Amino acid sequence: MRLDKFLCEMNIGTRGQVKAFVRQGMVTVNGKLVKSPDDKIDENADQIVFKRQLLQYRKYVYYMLNKPEGVVSATNDNTADTVVSLLEEDRRKDIFPVGRLDKDSTGLLLLTNDGELAHLLLSPKRHVDKTYQVTVEHSLTREEVSRLEQGVDIGEEHLTLPARVSVETSSMIVITVHEGKFHQIKRMLQAVDNRVLALKRTAFGCLRLDETLKPGEYRMLTESEIQELKSTGGCK
Ligand code: URA
Repeated sequence: MRLDKFLCEMNIGTRGQVKAFVRQGMVTVNGKLVKSPDDKIDENADQIVFKRQLLQYRKYVYYMLNKPEGVVSATNDNTADTVVSLLEEDRRKDIFPVGRLDKDSTGLLLLTNDGELAHLLLSPKRHVDKTYQVTVEHSLTREEVSRLEQGVDIGEEHLTLPARVSVETSSMIVITVHEGKFHQIKRMLQAVDNRVLALKRTAFGCLRLDETLKPGEYRMLTESEIQELKSTGGCK
């Protein structure tokens, strides 16, 4: 791979910036100063150092996005902005959202280029937990909470799987489900004659939404978040 491409993939900067860094002598390859950004390197064997820091090559990248309202969970769309378009341009290549949130839903969405992990996390067999903060139209009775917890008819072959519900206020509940059917939470609330007014995902498997991220902001997952997701397949 070309050195400048490698540095871009490592998120050191844009193509223009990394070329300048190389020309300014800020990069060594196997201990030797290099000055030409188009030199070929072996990303799996060579030791590339930028500003005295060894760069560990990563084929896969993982971002936590706080999805804002009004963008679609897709890689491209003819009519609306997509979650991928919220990333800086040079970070978008091959990135896709793991699962989807509705256009009007907000909160935690994982973006990656790691198809294998995405497959694992989305597999219906794995029942990865998803937690949502839900603003509801009417307050819920105990009996309705219990029905949501035990399983409701949303027009599928089976009732929904058992869920956990915590009533926060008369207009807000927190619900954790172990499946991810289309419009699942909206349909569950409909099944108890209620309506979702706002929906925010706060957790996905063992990942918790980083509340320092404003809607539309994102950050890379930490090494321990990545390892936890991988080793447990999402912390059921
Ligand atoms: N359930 C919904 O109804 N919508 C979402 O965006 C996510 C879960």
